[in-house]
Amino acid sequence: MNKRMQIVLVLAVLVSLCLALNLFGQAAKMANAKAPDKIVFEAKTGKVTFDHAKHLEREKNDCKACHDKIFPQSKAPLNFAAGMHKTAEAKKASCAACHVAGGKAFETKGNCNKCHVKA
Ligand code: HEC
Ligand code: HEC
Ligand code: HEC
Repeated sequence: MNKRMQIVLVLAVLVSLCLALNLFGQAAKMANAKAPDKIVFEAKTGKVTFDHAKHLEREKNDCKACHDKIFPQSKAPLNFAAGMHKTAEAKKASCAACHVAGGKAFETKGNCNKCHVKA
């Protein structure tokens, strides 16, 4: 192997090492996106406390039950309030992916107080 080939080889190894480390870093960052225990949503009809920890446990710790298909891991708007929740329920979107008639959790109708708590 001549000198030039050796240099090219060393460079190639270095570049792949950097790529690998970068990927590991990104994976670690995603796993570390700290899941909050509770998230409070303000609403005129009474604030809503979303128990993230309890919801997560019920989904057997599977983040994919909600992220990113139903909710991004962010403080983005929920898009749940419109039309007194009927719009989201019709689409089985946002909280109504589960909280909907026939869904895996209680629907909004008749259950306002299970979510909305007046101060
Ligand atoms: C039952 C549904 C559900 C599951 C399962 C779930 N999340 Fe979430 N998560 C939410 C909702 C809802 C929000 C709030 C979204 C918003 O405000 O737009 C949220 C927000 C977050 C946020 C942003 C918090 C903030 O205050 O900025 C992070 C980080 C997060 N989740 C991480 C995780 C991780 C990690 C897992 C798996 C270990 C997980 N979540 C599983 C529903 C869920
Ligand atoms: C992946 C399905 C799923 C999603 C999405 C979901 N929930 Fe739930 N939620 C449940 C289940 C299951 C229960 C247990 C109650 C039941 O059996 O009806 C529950 C219970 C609750 C309770 C009662 C307290 C508790 O945690 O036990 C509240 C309040 C609540 N959810 C609010 C919300 C809000 C607000 C959202 C949207 C930000 C949301 N949920 C999204 C599945 C879900
Ligand atoms: C599964 C939990 C849940 C149930 C049940 C529920 N809500 Fe809500 N509601 C929320 C959440 C979470 C928000 C905040 C949404 C957001 O930030 O986009 C909200 C927001 C609202 C808003 C908007 C308030 C504002 O300040 O803009 C109204 C109005 C409302 N709900 C009425 C109701 C009524 C009426 C019922 C019963 C028929 C009900 N909700 C049942 C979770 C729920």
